[in-house]
Amino acid sequence: MLRLTCASISAQQQVSPSLRFTDLAAGDTVTVRTVFDGLSMRSRFLRFHAGRSMLPLRMQQRLADVRPGSHEAHVAVLDDRPVGIVRWIRYAEEPQNAELAIEVIDAVQAGGIGRQLAARAARSAMAAGVQWFLAYIDESNADLRAWALSYGATIDRRDRGLLRLPVPALLAAVDGPISDRHLHRCT
Ligand SMILES: CC(C)(COP(=O)(O)OP(=O)(O)OC[C@H]1O[C@@H](n2cnc3c(N)ncnc32)[C@H](O)[C@@H]1OP(=O)(O)O)[C@@H](O)C(=O)NCCC(=O)NCCS
Repeated sequence: MLRLTCASISAQQQVSPSLRFTDLAAGDTVTVRTVFDGLSMRSRFLRFHAGRSMLPLRMQQRLADVRPGSHEAHVAVLDDRPVGIVRWIRYAEEPQNAELAIEVIDAVQAGGIGRQLAARAARSAMAAGVQWFLAYIDESNADLRAWALSYGATIDRRDRGLLRLPVPALLAAVDGPISDRHLHRCT
């Protein structure tokens, strides 16, 4: 069981970082499952749009089916435990667009890890020529939607749950050092 608090994570990031980032290896369903296991039912609902108690094997395999340029995923690892994953999956018919999905385990949310994952996804997507992220962010996830809208996301006209995010604007918003706000939010 991970017992770190947000405050200790932020301090560690600033002083002696035990947080690192890596790419998800193709077929690594263990990492996919480990992060899923650390999500509350609420976070699972927000991420998977259903209150899942487990991830079916086929979905684990799909989430681990990474391929350079079409499905890339980055993992945040804290004290050797995977605590978050961001992924983008390119639309084959619209290669300038990719679906973005992100999750950070509840024990370490609001500590700046999601922001750093988003920066990594934006960088790898831009390198691959992706210009827009499409993200399903539930209407009840008001804070996250407000944050995305403040950095240039727009709401899809036909599906209000779908946000369209310009990748360069996202990168500009999330790139940079962790802010003091994270410390304040977590203490
Ligand atoms: C969304 C999520 C990945 C954010 O990860 P995190 O490590 O908690 O996020 P951070 O601490 O890096 O915050 C990133 C920014 O998002 C905002 N934010 C993210 N989640 C927020 C929340 N639940 N409440 C308030 N603000 C939030 C913060 O204001 C922050 O902006 P700032 O850096 O300018 O202060 C995480 O909360 C999560 O896994 N939620 C459940 C799954 C989900 O909602 N996924 C998104 C849809 S795919």
